[in-house]
Amino acid sequence: MLQVTNIEKSFAASHGNVTALHDISFTIDSGQFVSIVGKSGSGKSTLLSLLGALDTPTSGSIVVDDVDIAKLSADQQTTYRAEKIGFVFQHYNLIPNLSALENVMLALEYGGMPGRERLERAVELLHEVGLESEEQLRRPARLSGGQQQRVAIARALANRPSLILADEPTGNLDSETGKTIFDLLHKLSRDEHTTIVVVTHDLSIAGKTDRTFTLKDGTLATLKR
Ligand SMILES: Nc1ncnc2c1ncn2[C@@H]1O[C@H](COP(=O)(O)OP(=O)(O)OP(=O)(O)O)[C@@H](O)[C@H]1O
Ligand SMILES: [Mg+2]
Repeated sequence: MLQVTNIEKSFAASHGNVTALHDISFTIDSGQFVSIVGKSGSGKSTLLSLLGALDTPTSGSIVVDDVDIAKLSADQQTTYRAEKIGFVFQHYNLIPNLSALENVMLALEYGGMPGRERLERAVELLHEVGLESEEQLRRPARLSGGQQQRVAIARALANRPSLILADEPTGNLDSETGKTIFDLLHKLSRDEHTTIVVVTHDLSIAGKTDRTFTLKDGTLATLKR
């Protein structure tokens, strides 16, 4: 489903280039649940943004369902993201002047769902991540960090993406709520065959995924099956 071959990613910085990823290669099958672990600055978010076509590699290829997403035009990347990807950002990226409910409904609108069905689906998704009805009407600034994180997760699931990319989706959650979210993702991979890649610092979560990738200074250190 997803084949990464020899990717490198460098950023221009004031003191020269910073290479965030060095010669990374791996394959992920459809429906696999993969975790990425590694120290701060090891390249986890960079790798996730390349898989989600939010950025392009400096070299190498990323083939998703027979298409090399590294070679897509900006418009094609947008279409790829809309049709295939559910992205949970490390800093949520919710729209501040929309309520939790409206944030999820907007994603559904982009996904082409008719207006009448959006409200019902958004309410259902937010209940699934444990947000109560009253909380669903609040703007992000009036929600706790963990509640915002769960809105971001509901938004990522909204259009039933075939690939979910989540950057520390349980980083701000207590262990019980984190387990609920993990179970939800696990259920999607098992029942809907959704491919899931999560960045996590929580080794108890990483230990329960199908595979764990460890990044060390931009290099894939170990590849556990
Ligand atoms: N846009 C950018 N411009 C320059 N350097 C960048 C850019 N984005 C990331 N980097 C650098 O690339 C390296 C990897 O960053 P990345 O954000 O992928 O780390 P991370 O593993 O997600 O860390 P954390 O656990 O702190 O979120 C770091 O050295 C970072 O400073
Ligand atoms: Mg990061």
